Amino acid sequence: SSISIKSALAGAAGEGAQVTVKGWVRTRRDSKAGLSFVNLSDGSCFDAIQIVAPDTLANYATDVLRLTAGAGVIATGTLVRSQGKGQSYEIQASAIEVTGFVDDPETYPIQPKPHSMEFLREVAHLRPRTNIFGAITRVRHTLAQAIHRFFHENGFYWVNTPIITTSDAEGAGQMFRVSTLDLANLPRTDKGAIDFSKDFFGKDAFLTVSGQLNVEAYCLALSKVYTFGPTFRAENSNTSRHLAEFWMIEPEIAFADLAADADLAEALLKYVFRAVLNERADDMAFFAERVEKTAVTRLESFIDAPFERIDYTEAVKILKNSGKKFDFPVEWGIDLQTEHERFLVEEHVGRPSVVMNYPEAIKAFYMRLNDDGKTVAAMDILAPGIGEIVGGSQREERLDLLDARMTKMGLDPAHYQWYRDLRRYGSVPHAGFGLGFERLVVYTCGLANIRDAIPYPRVPGHAEF
Ligand code: 4AD
Ligand code: MG
Repeated sequence: SSISIKSALAGAAGEGAQVTVKGWVRTRRDSKAGLSFVNLSDGSCFDAIQIVAPDTLANYATDVLRLTAGAGVIATGTLVRSQGKGQSYEIQASAIEVTGFVDDPETYPIQPKPHSMEFLREVAHLRPRTNIFGAITRVRHTLAQAIHRFFHENGFYWVNTPIITTSDAEGAGQMFRVSTLDLANLPRTDKGAIDFSKDFFGKDAFLTVSGQLNVEAYCLALSKVYTFGPTFRAENSNTSRHLAEFWMIEPEIAFADLAADADLAEALLKYVFRAVLNERADDMAFFAERVEKTAVTRLESFIDAPFERIDYTEAVKILKNSGKKFDFPVEWGIDLQTEHERFLVEEHVGRPSVVMNYPEAIKAFYMRLNDDGKTVAAMDILAPGIGEIVGGSQREERLDLLDARMTKMGLDPAHYQWYRDLRRYGSVPHAGFGLGFERLVVYTCGLANIRDAIPYPRVPGHAEF
């Protein structure tokens, strides 16, 4: 019967069993003794299985000797214990069916040798066949499953918020427009402006930057909810930490303050790292060996260490007294830059930190004003090696203060009527945060660039595949 390579390698079928495996060739080596060794992988685990093909197979010369990396193969034979070190089981083939050879093996982009990550981005449709993208894909899956499991076990409901929206959830003006208007023949109002009432939605519509505003409405009825979906930002930052399309996890909890919000984020992160270490030990060992030495150890210390909690005002003092020369000068009121965040968590604290209570002028309109009138109940979680991984806040639940902040930030409260209703009808304190899924994948796998944490990265100038 047909089994996965993972279960073949584990020997679950029993020694001597007749099994069939299906997969793609990684390598082929021929011995003088009339045997070919074909390594086959199917993505079910990190390792490939060795298929031993004797020259007595009817199609040995016509098929087996033509196999090259990437070919599709169905192999049937006897499961036997392997002599080779590190190999648990192998298959002595009685039949090998080739479902597809590789055209022109010399130019096949995925050769059995190390490729640069930059090169692999140019063949995003073929890179899943490499060891590293196989491992990233499995870890990404495991993280997603663990996130859903964490919330389910803790009584949260998953709410699917819209992708197309007319609300700018961050008020930062970084939205991609969604329109069916003909660019060459735009409808105009009397005043000459584009007439979006003639557009598909009858309004100027966009791809969402965050599901937060929508999920707040569900929080204020179901108490514990979260979103997990794609979000889009037209920020022109060509960096190793930003994508134009990324996935975000946004929990929202009712009758909760900023401290409870930070506790939730800490519990979630630790839970998912534990899951990855338990469930994907093979892939994590590969990352530690080939990608980032500390890939496993830093997750272990992340799980063990209580996160530090620092006030923004305190963080600014630490940075100013550090004697360090930053490119971007530190003053109370600045938005912390990557260099500041890295100094704080990597050199000063040495473990993940929750920075809280930022100046209101640099934070989004929905964040709750603190009693000092200068700061808001915002938090960022910073991790060594990556910087900001979580951004969250307690929400402004008082309508008059929400309106005042919107107006101060140049937003029109009239555009947020439905959101304002949540403060008019049974308002309660509530809080939430956003965890960037690809930042989480980058951190877990020890990757250098966020473009390798999502199957098909979208960044300025690139939307191929
Ligand atoms: O800090 P941000 O902008 O917060 C929000 O969107 C809130 N609405 C979240 C909430 O409170 N519900 O984004 C949250 C996280 C960041 O910490 C980062 O991990 C990730 O989303 N992120 C990005 N990841 C990849 N590419 C980008 N361009 C990102 N922008 C933010
Ligand atoms: Mg942020």
